[in-house]
Amino acid sequence: MCGIIGYVGKKAATPIILEGLRRLEYRGYDSAGIAVLHNGRLLVRKKKGKIGEGLARLLKSEPVAGNLGIGHTRWATHGPPSDINSHPHLDQSGRIAVVHNGVIENYDALKQKLLATGHKFKSGTDTEVLAHLIGDYYEKRRSRRCESADGPRFDKRGYKINGNDLIQAVCDALREVIGTYGIAVICADEPDTIVGARRGSPLIIGIGTDENFLASDANAIVAHTKKVVYLNDYDVATIKSERFDVLNLGADTANVQISNLEFSQEDAARGDFEHFMLKEIFEQPRTVENALRGRVDTEGATAKFGGLNMTPAQLCSIKRIIIAASGTSWHAALVGEYLIEELAQIPVEVEFAHEFCYRNAPLERDTVLLVLSQSGETADTLAALREAKRRGHRALAIVNVVGSTIARESDGGIYMHAGPEIGVASTKAFVSTLTILALLAVHLGRMRTLSARRALEILHALEAVPKQLESILAQNNALKKIAKKYAKADDFFFLGRGYTFPIALEGALKLKEISYIHAEGYSAAEMKHGPIALIDPKTPTVFLVPQDSMYDKTMANLAMIRARKGPIIALATEGDKQIGKVANDVIYLPKALELINPILATVPLQLFAYHIAVVRGCDVDKPRNLAKSVTVE
Ligand code: AGP
Repeated sequence: MCGIIGYVGKKAATPIILEGLRRLEYRGYDSAGIAVLHNGRLLVRKKKGKIGEGLARLLKSEPVAGNLGIGHTRWATHGPPSDINSHPHLDQSGRIAVVHNGVIENYDALKQKLLATGHKFKSGTDTEVLAHLIGDYYEKRRSRRCESADGPRFDKRGYKINGNDLIQAVCDALREVIGTYGIAVICADEPDTIVGARRGSPLIIGIGTDENFLASDANAIVAHTKKVVYLNDYDVATIKSERFDVLNLGADTANVQISNLEFSQEDAARGDFEHFMLKEIFEQPRTVENALRGRVDTEGATAKFGGLNMTPAQLCSIKRIIIAASGTSWHAALVGEYLIEELAQIPVEVEFAHEFCYRNAPLERDTVLLVLSQSGETADTLAALREAKRRGHRALAIVNVVGSTIARESDGGIYMHAGPEIGVASTKAFVSTLTILALLAVHLGRMRTLSARRALEILHALEAVPKQLESILAQNNALKKIAKKYAKADDFFFLGRGYTFPIALEGALKLKEISYIHAEGYSAAEMKHGPIALIDPKTPTVFLVPQDSMYDKTMANLAMIRARKGPIIALATEGDKQIGKVANDVIYLPKALELINPILATVPLQLFAYHIAVVRGCDVDKPRNLAKSVTVE
């Protein structure tokens, strides 16, 4: 996934674009670049590496000025990270600049066609091909000297300037493209216009006063405006300082709705924390409160939601639920399976979103798909949602980013209201999703066999979670000490059973993705069927062993690790008198219902991974090779 921003107005574009790119850097940070229009000239600066080390330094030595520009921060898909592969890319004439988020699947065929007509390419990217294609159509339109509605205007080369040429050339080019795109296009001959377009990659218009913005997401522009338009697939927008217009390549008219952003610039800022990830870990008590707010119905002993868009009868008729997601959200789906099957007795199947799309899974009537996604833009998950809808099944979503593609294409859903999650490693969104899945399980259960008494017990337990998380966060320094003790290990196991098995998987992923240490999450029971061969004194095991219905069996599994001299870091329940005798280190969790343990056990593992990554000098918020949301399949 990449980050795009555009600005047109009366202010200097460069600082606005640079700051916006900094706020989008979590989307991708292999390279960054900017193109600004100044006196009919296109000034481009672009550099490999993160903004602070690359583009920002370049702009200090080679500044660019202008009131219209576009910028890009890249997560490489086609072509390795390099200066030449950085965006913006120019067309053959050098007068059109394009920045792009997405993948053009037929770029090679388009490139061959352009090469055959004399085009020369500098980079290995699909985006440069798109820039040349737009430029090719633009030249064709210009040479046909189309008359514009307000009469001809001429540029320095004697060409007539027709405000429609650029947008029409973009439309012409996009009609040939197969794949996904979120793009911004500017042209030296159209000094007041930015053209934006999207299919499969997010793009929004920010509406200012005598200035307008284009961005991949609202984090880039919330400092300037809270009025936005979420563009839809096939929308093509023309943006000027005093107005914007939107057409849709697939419909007679575009569906333009102005929305107001729910969060502030401060929400998206790091505050006093060293990393966004740490800030977001510490936000989690509030996150759970936000997930619960307005959804606990103690009078009816159930949970309530405003956006499922299903009648009680429809909810009652659900025979099976498939939960599809990716990464951390897929781990949340596994917890969701346990919760919904236990509380509502509805059969649940968890699928990797990318697998669900491409295998011909049997979908009986009354099967509902539920997708989980923090960003609401994950291409694999979006594809699963579209596949279920294509086959005539209702698709619900639990999403964090308001107005995201998954949120808008689902038949109904539940927002997390967790606020912007900037750290690439997902933390608060995961805890929010677990909270909402518990509420959903209660809601569905109370339409079936779940008693009011049991439901109230669960709802009260959920309402106690924020305080319990505060007590766990208070152990941060103790966790930091334990993390330092094991920071040099090359391999880790994370083991759990039942409700904490998915949390073992999540703990392993957190450690992997921010500290680059190999870690495996595994079922504590399954370990003895082979992987236990890997246990030795150099391989620490993080063992989730809360006092739950599996405690005795899990302790027996723990003993197998200990017998082979594997160091053990245990997550146990306060008051457990046994664990200290068999574990090398112990982190205690507050006593809680078994189905609440996944939420509580997650936070120490997030902090454990965070502190190890910091000790190892890793870039916690922007880990190598990763991006915040993977908008390519
Ligand atoms: C989480 O730490 C990872 N960054 C990644 O696995 C993420 O959960 C996955 O890409 C799904 O993202 P989504 O929730 O935005 O769909």
